[in-house]
Amino acid sequence: MGDVVRTLIAGLLVMGVAAPLASAQPLRPTARAVDAPPLRVPVDINPDPSVLEVNMSAYVADVEIGPGLKVRAWTYDGAIPGPFLRAKVGDRLIVHFTNKLPEATTIHWHGLRVPIAMDGVPGISQPPMHTGDTFTYDFVLRDAGLFWYHPHVMSAAQVGFGLYGALQVDDPSDGVTVDDEVTLVLSDIGFNTFGELEPADSGGPAGMVFGREGEHVLVNGRRTPTLTMRAGTVQRWRIVNTAKSRFFLIDMDGQPFTVIGSDGGLQSAPVTEQTLLVTTGERVDVLVAPRGTPGSTLSVRAMLYNRGYGSVQYRDVEELMRIRFTDAPALPARAMPKTSRRIVPTERAGATEVPIVLTLPPAGKDGKSAFRVNGVPFWEAKPFTAALGERQVWVIRNDTDWDHPFHLHGYFFLQLDANDQPVQPLAWKDTLNIPMKTTIKVLIDFNERPGEWMFHCHILDHAEGGLMGTVQVGSPSGRTHEHKPPPQ
Ligand code: C2O
Ligand code: CU
Repeated sequence: MGDVVRTLIAGLLVMGVAAPLASAQPLRPTARAVDAPPLRVPVDINPDPSVLEVNMSAYVADVEIGPGLKVRAWTYDGAIPGPFLRAKVGDRLIVHFTNKLPEATTIHWHGLRVPIAMDGVPGISQPPMHTGDTFTYDFVLRDAGLFWYHPHVMSAAQVGFGLYGALQVDDPSDGVTVDDEVTLVLSDIGFNTFGELEPADSGGPAGMVFGREGEHVLVNGRRTPTLTMRAGTVQRWRIVNTAKSRFFLIDMDGQPFTVIGSDGGLQSAPVTEQTLLVTTGERVDVLVAPRGTPGSTLSVRAMLYNRGYGSVQYRDVEELMRIRFTDAPALPARAMPKTSRRIVPTERAGATEVPIVLTLPPAGKDGKSAFRVNGVPFWEAKPFTAALGERQVWVIRNDTDWDHPFHLHGYFFLQLDANDQPVQPLAWKDTLNIPMKTTIKVLIDFNERPGEWMFHCHILDHAEGGLMGTVQVGSPSGRTHEHKPPPQ
């Protein structure tokens, strides 16, 4: 796809496209946010249609999240979310990245099967990038799906301050034909009346244990944007939760969501849900056809979901966005497009079982708490090991009173049920919620790309608070390093 065409199509498909552009393209005239800016598409500096090459930098900038609501945020290229990177499966992505933040940073490409040197974990896969440093990320986009990018240095702080963006890898042959497509980046941010960011350590150790949430809920960087559409239009929504701790349980006044895919692209078959849970770091790909009286408005809400003490007590349902129906009569109801994907499950027989127990012992005398993986917080942990080509079943037992969305870098996995059968429909995951006091098994094939890969809770305060580890796939490179505790 040519640069101009790519930009045009991406512009048309994302939320908030300008009206003149939309009316010039009669095939996709139906959905646009009237008060939300589009996800910004960066300039592709490479004429090769199979390469997306961009310059990007991180810096502090004033960002308006709604009328009169300004925050001095940490941004990629000056906005929240960062540039919307969009390419086709098999394309090459090159990002020339410069750090203009007051602190060190890196970029981690969440969910992508990248070479280890592109994984962006400071001290493990790349040196931290100090202020003024430049690094070029360069890899092939092997899998279709919605992915995202964020720092891996002090990630609870930096993601919470606004550093995240969506990376969508399209498969033009996926056969999903809809009236319109929208990519939705869900997040939150906290700041005071002077527009100053809420400190990353607010609430002290209790804040860490809960997982800090920002008071302003954002959709594509805006508070309660409006999506305008004709009632009954079939839309494909690709949703990513980039919040550092907040879960989103999405309700559209009981209207159904047809889930067709998750982290690693389409799943084997669709499922219909009345509400949609998107935990931190996860993605969902859904078909919807919201209905309502022409001219009316429908609220899309985040309902209460109990991920641990503090998430439902004294909390309210939040309005995420509004759908405003045009005056055109509703389109007749019709069946959702059929989707399917042949997924060959990883062989369970012969896989090594690896027990993983997540705990939170009572706070020490200093009042500090630390989450532990198999008895140790991250800074005392030794890497797990896997031979290259080894298949493993990670039996993850969450003994704590909080949910933990468990994320593994570099590999997709399948969830297994209690009988060790893959959970149907089959779906490639890289982030999976382990509810409080629950055990969940996942099957991983460490079939390629030796290196030291991270796993951690994607409630980033939990990760920084100890709930992280690494798995050394293949023999270690010989380099030794120490995991250091974060300041709490
Ligand atoms: Cu979103 Cu370590 O990752
Ligand atoms: Cu957690």
